[in-house]
Amino acid sequence: MTDQRRPDGSLRHLITLEGISRTEIDSLLDRSQGYVRALGERAPSNRALAGMTIGNLFTEPSTRTRVSFELAGRRLGAEVINLEVQLSSRVKGESMLDTIHTLEALHFDAFVIRDSEPGVVAHVAANVAAHVSVFSAGEAHQSHPTQGLLDALTVRQHKGGHFERLRIAIIGDIRHSRVARSAYEVFTALGVGELRLVAPAGLMPASGEFPAGKRCLTLEEGLADADVVMALRIQKERMTQAEIPNGEEYFARFGLTVPRLRRARPDAIVMHPQPMNRGVEIDSEVADGPQSVIRAQVRNGVAVRMAVLEALLRPRPGGA
Ligand code: CP
Repeated sequence: MTDQRRPDGSLRHLITLEGISRTEIDSLLDRSQGYVRALGERAPSNRALAGMTIGNLFTEPSTRTRVSFELAGRRLGAEVINLEVQLSSRVKGESMLDTIHTLEALHFDAFVIRDSEPGVVAHVAANVAAHVSVFSAGEAHQSHPTQGLLDALTVRQHKGGHFERLRIAIIGDIRHSRVARSAYEVFTALGVGELRLVAPAGLMPASGEFPAGKRCLTLEEGLADADVVMALRIQKERMTQAEIPNGEEYFARFGLTVPRLRRARPDAIVMHPQPMNRGVEIDSEVADGPQSVIRAQVRNGVAVRMAVLEALLRPRPGGA
């Protein structure tokens, strides 16, 4: 497992939620909640990271994670630089580590990295200077830790902190989903009552993965009396052409519609990490309906990223 802790046991990097205790998760969620504001209220801000510089390096597309990490850093007083990878010397063949070491020489204190290759984030973390922290913004199919935390925060806000009472159904392309893996890690750490993996056989994870999950091959079984329903996008970018399901056929079997959602509890919440493919994994009536908390997830993303940046980064000695 990736070593993401300092010698004193505190978290230095955030690469995965694996191995993070319930106490640590609760503490991060409490800190995140302190940064949540209703729309229309003034966004929170302070100077906790004043004088620090954070680099966003995204080699895969992103809207929510990139913008919210940028806002999070700025609202904590840090300078945030978005490296346009396609305009950087990476395209001339410079390695990731040479790029990172160049930015370290420019006094960067932290890197937020999204990459399609498994292991890149941990590799960078293992090779940065001792004062530098690395945050995963989504790594291949493996992990998306801040997404897991914002999902947990969203559930806690709507369903309370008794995760052991909840049935959570994760529906769709679980096999290729980093969101599902981080959700599994955070919800199992929080002691969820039942975590259902709902997917056609071809999109189920390998048998050794998600050992505590209950596998459901039909939407009807997966949705029955669920408290939380999380739909996932089909990750076409991680499939061969032959593996990509037909959208209409998929919607007919696994698309989340209003009549199907009636199988879940009447007060069930509907989540989706986005981007959504409406009419494939979810119907617009559900995505925009009264049970949807999809926009709350987005709002919570900034709060969670403020919390993790503030919790993990240490103030530097010296002044202006
Ligand atoms: N949920 C999520 O990771 O969205 P983006 O790909 O837009 O960052």
